[in-house]
Amino acid sequence: MTQRKRIFSGIQSTGIPTLGSFLGAISNWEKLSAEYDCLFCVVDLHAITVRQDPKELRKYGREMLAWLIALGLDPEKSILYYQSHVSAHAELSWILNCFTYMGELNRMAQFKMKSAKNEENINAGLYSYPVLQAADILLYQTNMVPVGEDQRQHIELCRDVAGRFNKIYGDIFTIPDAYIPPVGAKIMSLQNPTEKMSKSDDNLNACIYLSDSTDTVIKKFKRAVTDSDNFVKFSEEKPGISNLLTIYACMTGKKIAECEATFADAGYGAFKQAVGEAVAQNIAPYQAEHARLMSDPAELDAIAARGAEKAAASAEKTLSKVKESIGFVI
Ligand code: TRP
Repeated sequence: MTQRKRIFSGIQSTGIPTLGSFLGAISNWEKLSAEYDCLFCVVDLHAITVRQDPKELRKYGREMLAWLIALGLDPEKSILYYQSHVSAHAELSWILNCFTYMGELNRMAQFKMKSAKNEENINAGLYSYPVLQAADILLYQTNMVPVGEDQRQHIELCRDVAGRFNKIYGDIFTIPDAYIPPVGAKIMSLQNPTEKMSKSDDNLNACIYLSDSTDTVIKKFKRAVTDSDNFVKFSEEKPGISNLLTIYACMTGKKIAECEATFADAGYGAFKQAVGEAVAQNIAPYQAEHARLMSDPAELDAIAARGAEKAAASAEKTLSKVKESIGFVI
């Protein structure tokens, strides 16, 4: 029997997941988990690169785990866990810091963006964030990393650092590939459709949270920013409408061209209403399952503990190889 390829991905635990993270990431993870050996990690160590309220961090950590399961990731088949439960992440991250150049980190677009937004707290963790991400991935001899387009640069850095390490110490790390899904990889803000949908957006109408009620979802789509020509067509000049088409296509499983045809004579009002309804309908069963999981926190914590145990066993193998190769006394 050949070994299944390994997938690793991480998700921030700083709030309720958005429609963007569901369509751009989690729904693809669910598909991949049928074919690959997967680890999905709630990255709470990454979360503290921005100041967090302790109560909220803990609450949203659990929320996120419950959402991942509700959205279809099966903890019996995939390894689901909190990053802070497996200390190997922090250990390998330190080691890899010593193999990453400041010149490389200076080029990271996400660091530039986050430090511009957060001038009063540009901390060293924010700077070396991509190194911790590389550690996440490399600990598990990952083959493929499903991420959004905005993470491509971090995966490139991970490959460079792994290659550099391997060149010095031999074949320690598998070099991972980024896997960026073709459709729905990037769901944009409903209010500013040239920017990614983000839970940190100040405008609450910009973003659909998976916990939003049907009324809220429909209202937010009604208010979505589009253009003034009233023609439902996917095009670079029409980022708002293109975004809504992408969302509708993801919700219904139809091709973009089919969706365009359906709404050719509809006008924006009816189109927006249909997108809102499709989204609300689609997320309702996930919301019910999420509520069920949240009603039993002990069971949720037990799932996380089992996940961490499996992850740690696998991470430890790589970490001891690394330590031995570097020359630490063993
Ligand atoms: N940086 C990723 C994001 O913001 C989250 C993440 C952390 C991640 N570690 C990872 C993604 C490892 C893939 C692999 O989306």
